[in-house]
Amino acid sequence: MPDPILSEGSFSIEFQPVGIRLICSEPITLLDAARQAGIQLQNVCGGKGICGKCAIQIIEGESNPPTRSETTFLKGGILKEGERLACETTVHDNVKIFIPPTSLESKQRLQTEGRHDIQEIQSPIHCEPIHLNPPSLTHPIADLRNLLSAQPGMYFENDERIRTALQTIPAVLRNGNWDVYAVCNQNEILNILPEKPAAMLGLAVDVGSTKIACFLMDLPTGKTMAVKGIPNPQIAYGEDIMARLEYALQNDAQAAHLHSIIIEAINEVINSVCHEAKVKPQAIMDFCFVGNTAMHHFFLDLPSKYLASAPFTMMVDQALNIPIDALGIQGMPGSKAYFPAPIAGFVGSDHLAFLLSSGFGDDQHTRLGIDIGTNTEIAIQKGDRIVSCSTASGPAFEGAHIRFGMRAAPGAIEHVRIDPEGNANVDVIGGGEAIGICGSGILDVIAELKQRGILNQRGRLDREHAHVSTDDSNMRIYTLIPPSANQREITISQKDIDQILLAKGAIRSGIAILMDYLKVKDEDIAEVIIAGAFGSYLNPQHAIQIGMLPDLPLHKISAVGNAAGAGAKMMLLSSALRQKGEQLAKQIEHLELNTYPDFDMFFANGIRFS
Ligand code: FES
Repeated sequence: MPDPILSEGSFSIEFQPVGIRLICSEPITLLDAARQAGIQLQNVCGGKGICGKCAIQIIEGESNPPTRSETTFLKGGILKEGERLACETTVHDNVKIFIPPTSLESKQRLQTEGRHDIQEIQSPIHCEPIHLNPPSLTHPIADLRNLLSAQPGMYFENDERIRTALQTIPAVLRNGNWDVYAVCNQNEILNILPEKPAAMLGLAVDVGSTKIACFLMDLPTGKTMAVKGIPNPQIAYGEDIMARLEYALQNDAQAAHLHSIIIEAINEVINSVCHEAKVKPQAIMDFCFVGNTAMHHFFLDLPSKYLASAPFTMMVDQALNIPIDALGIQGMPGSKAYFPAPIAGFVGSDHLAFLLSSGFGDDQHTRLGIDIGTNTEIAIQKGDRIVSCSTASGPAFEGAHIRFGMRAAPGAIEHVRIDPEGNANVDVIGGGEAIGICGSGILDVIAELKQRGILNQRGRLDREHAHVSTDDSNMRIYTLIPPSANQREITISQKDIDQILLAKGAIRSGIAILMDYLKVKDEDIAEVIIAGAFGSYLNPQHAIQIGMLPDLPLHKISAVGNAAGAGAKMMLLSSALRQKGEQLAKQIEHLELNTYPDFDMFFANGIRFS
């Protein structure tokens, strides 16, 4: 598909994970390109190639070969394999760049918090003191039998784990002078410790395709000990799920690589939250991971190729408990990670976690739940029935395919108001100069342009308006911010508007089909719950004005932030909520939108400008 924002002779430099693109027509170093795009790369030496701070990775595209200075940094281990110095790398054609978090001066905004309600903390993990009688010549009892007879009803899983445990247990029993502690998951003994553990912690993680949100929790009290959000490093191999599935499809080594980098990232984030909470990773005794189905399969190293094409079959639709040792995750040896059930090929356990934390299935109310992303998951509950679907809304709301689009990071315009004369007033994340516009800002612009009559009912910019002009390729543009000495010009083009209308059309048609399927009318809906970072910042009135959401009273619409992370915490902290989640997974019906009668008609109506 031709790139919608490139004109003849120009090329694009796309920076991930911030998601901003720079269009150039002359060769340029990546450090200069980042500066022009308003991205602050670390550059202690000012671009002389001597500090080694401006490391980036070229994911796609060509550049000059590594310079002498880069080779030296590579040999010295300052640059990792595959990394380049932005100041030493010149590009002249389309490239995609990944910026490691350590090379950025300012960090991307990664929402981690969501609302959750846990009535009763009831972790399945508990610690029991055990006293054993030492073996003697008259009673030379085996250590394992001795242990199990002291704890009737308890057992070790009789697989590879028992062998690993038995390699350390004899020393622990003797060093503990036959008074030890068993860490158990219900009746299963996970590990034997010589002393009572100072802390019993758990880790809840929402593995999103863009970000990984990680919560270190105290299992007995449910208190949050540390929170950390990091970009998903897989973004270097494709911005959306389909691109990563295609990358994995090419060969087994690439599929394995997607698995190993996610495990590495999890271990890094574990180190980081443990450092913040001043504990060792071995204090983590339980884990709950949620994510979309592709992330789930990559994480568990399951074949992902069947997710990539119709009928998009997932490998498993039930919750799994996997020993962390088998996955290579840090934590208390013997611990297991709980993976709630995915719902369908493109509706993952993150959706289940969202619905669990948002009260779906708790009563008979009619409610609508939406998690907006590159893939938007939508659910409607009516009485006992809950039906979910996934719609390919594309990355426009994350700033991709938009001339000045970017993710919600410092420098992004997040809110826009347009006065009756057509002048824009903008709010920029972190204040200061605007370098681009993120999803909530783009949605504001379109709704405000419509309200001011600058955009007509067919979604066309009014060429007669004083703030509308044309660019070099004769495309109509609205000038959001005019250029000045310390501010680059930021415009919204007709193509940008078309991209947003397509994205909102995908979401609105998904909602309309689910409502049609369950015979739900606008007035039946008691509440609309919007999850995800974008949902937290969007103006619901504007979402209604552009026809993305049904026309409902605003008090019925609420944003719940990282609801998937909240659901993961709930399932980490309570056995009852794990069971409730498992029940909910069985209750959710999945509807494949493309097979719905009159799908094209619903989509055409969805794109319409309200
Ligand atoms: S800015 Fe110092 S090495 Fe590139």
